[in-house]
Amino acid sequence: MKELKKNKEEILELTATFVQNTLKDAESGHDWWHIQRVWSNTKHILQHEQADELVCELTALLHDIADSKFHNGDETIGPRIAGEFLKSIEVDPNVIEHVQKIILNMSFKASLGDVTFHSKELEVVQDADRLDAIGAIGIVRAFTYGGFKNREIYNPNIPPVVHQDKEAYKNTTAPTINHFYEKLLLLKDKMNTPTAKAIAAERHAYMEDFLKQFYAEWNGDK
Ligand code: ADP
Ligand code: NI
Repeated sequence: MKELKKNKEEILELTATFVQNTLKDAESGHDWWHIQRVWSNTKHILQHEQADELVCELTALLHDIADSKFHNGDETIGPRIAGEFLKSIEVDPNVIEHVQKIILNMSFKASLGDVTFHSKELEVVQDADRLDAIGAIGIVRAFTYGGFKNREIYNPNIPPVVHQDKEAYKNTTAPTINHFYEKLLLLKDKMNTPTAKAIAAERHAYMEDFLKQFYAEWNGDK
């Protein structure tokens, strides 16, 4: 007898388990906790936005399954692994294709290149991921990444730049404080949904306070 089609909850549970196992040894910026926060941001945004829940939640779970940064810049590896897994649990091919397209196009890096795909579902998950790059968690993730890469925390002689170009953004070795100007402080105005915009405004203000305090301490003013 043919097995009955899996329902949404079953698909999400199997996917969450797969992601948790796959990311067991991931670095802390992209570990299971990041995925869990992005998943929960996604569900929160979905309470206020009309979008396909299964596509959004699956993408939230699978969007960092294989980061091109750790695979010689291969940007197709994430969508490929996500697709193979979803196929193995017999998810609808249209859903699989949509999830793959979002993963390929949702990153900040991709947004600096030629973005070839857009959908409401992409907007929701992109916002959910970007929210996790700002605020208190965003600050901690940036310095964790910088430490992992052995970057300077700050260097007053290296002024921050806003990269227009994907390659320049990818290849920077600038101090971590510069990353605020390269990306983190730009995210508030790039949010797609009103729900994420409101959350981002508060998290942005928190980062600005942090930077003010940081420079004051650096200069011995506080
Ligand atoms: P995401 O998973 O949010 O799409 P990335 O893969 O670009 O983001 O980066 C993971 C985390 O590391 C994010 O919090 C990001 O801001 C941070 N990060 C990325 N590049 C740098 C950098 N050059 N300096 C400091 N932090 C960085
Ligand atoms: Ni992410």
